[in-house]
Amino acid sequence: MSLRKAGANWVDGDRFYNRGEELEVLSERARDGIHTLITAPRRMGKTSLVRELLRRLAEEGTFETIFVDLEDASDPADAIAEIGAQSRSLKGAWRRIRLGFSNALKEIGGRVDNVSISELQVQLRAGIAAGNQWRKGDDIIAALAENNQRVVLAIDELPIFVSRLLRENGDDITTEGKRATDKFLSWLRKNAQRHRGRIVLIVSGSVGLEPILRQAGLSAQVNIFAPCDLKPWSEDTASSCLAELAEAYGLGLPPDIRMAMCRRLRCHVPHHIQQFFGYLHEHLRRENRTRASLNDVDQVYENEMLSVRGQVDLEHYQGRLRVVLRTEEYRVALELLTEAAVGGGLLSDDVIDQYSRHLRAEVKAGAHPVIIEDVLYLLEHDGYLERQSGGYRFISGLLEDWWSVRYGQNFIPIMSR
Ligand SMILES: Nc1ncnc2c1ncn2[C@@H]1O[C@H](COP(=O)(O)OP(=O)(O)OP(=O)(O)O)[C@@H](O)[C@H]1O
Ligand SMILES: [Mg+2]
Repeated sequence: MSLRKAGANWVDGDRFYNRGEELEVLSERARDGIHTLITAPRRMGKTSLVRELLRRLAEEGTFETIFVDLEDASDPADAIAEIGAQSRSLKGAWRRIRLGFSNALKEIGGRVDNVSISELQVQLRAGIAAGNQWRKGDDIIAALAENNQRVVLAIDELPIFVSRLLRENGDDITTEGKRATDKFLSWLRKNAQRHRGRIVLIVSGSVGLEPILRQAGLSAQVNIFAPCDLKPWSEDTASSCLAELAEAYGLGLPPDIRMAMCRRLRCHVPHHIQQFFGYLHEHLRRENRTRASLNDVDQVYENEMLSVRGQVDLEHYQGRLRVVLRTEEYRVALELLTEAAVGGGLLSDDVIDQYSRHLRAEVKAGAHPVIIEDVLYLLEHDGYLERQSGGYRFISGLLEDWWSVRYGQNFIPIMSR
């Protein structure tokens, strides 16, 4: 079947391209009972990779699978109820879980198999009293471990959830937040170890978990996970993906055109490849043509990818930074990225030193301290910037251009202030 265009959401099946090696590694780990933490910058295809893996494992009939998204979970009981609700599709485990929550489920009685997962989650959540969430959680995971078939439990957006716990929905990491996070991760870890071989965990998220835990001094909590670092596509892979899409939609996209598209992006984030193709396709359709030229590539890049409409993804990059940084750190992160954008893609060590001095002066004047190394660590770890001699550089040409268009205009670099 030919490759179809993607929407804004994750893809699997006939919209999923490449990543054969990663799928192979993850299948093998699942068979060997090894838990995984998937790390990669925004929009690299983490959720899609996990969804496609689950689809294939279910198709092979080797595992039953659950996908849990913790983006909206507000506390551990919420997260546990979400795991419980998503387990409804597992025949063996669900019988036991249902029994354990029989009181809470009375109200929806006979409708329990027909209500939406979110309604089911609410009912299960109501059945978890303050203080007994860990026991309820243990019961749910034990039910999964006793399921007829082995279970792969994928947890997406764990870092967002952890970040929320740490900050108790405020700006600063609190002692209580640290305690709650530590407890939740200990619970997860204990269960992952206890049921090793019966349950395999795959954790992912649109922000890196390590920088968040590092801020809280809780890094050791995730050492049960083997990392899987999802890389951008190589130019060859990105170009072949474009070729397949072009063929599926009857477009002429010769190799030099595809190469020009890849070079513009510099870093071949699957979502950006898809976005570029989508805009080019629309552009050619408007002009009633099917063959793209280099001029089309330039036009679509400048007028569509960098347009306000094209920048929706920029909001995503920015929004995720906001989630994991304190207000002052976030402000510094935005400035550093803008310095890099207006500095021809490079954030020089001199500029960084100047910011350090400036921040120290602000602290003396009573401001909240910001550790610039922490901000840079996050920007590097989460794939915004990479270290190179003399400073840091934007990895993605697209992100650099977006940043420059959005913030570059009225910005006065620190060296000129
Ligand atoms: N293997 C793939 N084949 C084709 N397109 C892909 C693939 N992986 C990702 N994409 C494209 O990237 C988009 C984002 O994918 P996905 O949501 O899986 O990324 P993510 O890394 O989970 O993003 P986020 O950082 O926002 O969580 C998809 O809509 C699709 O356009
Ligand atoms: Mg995702």
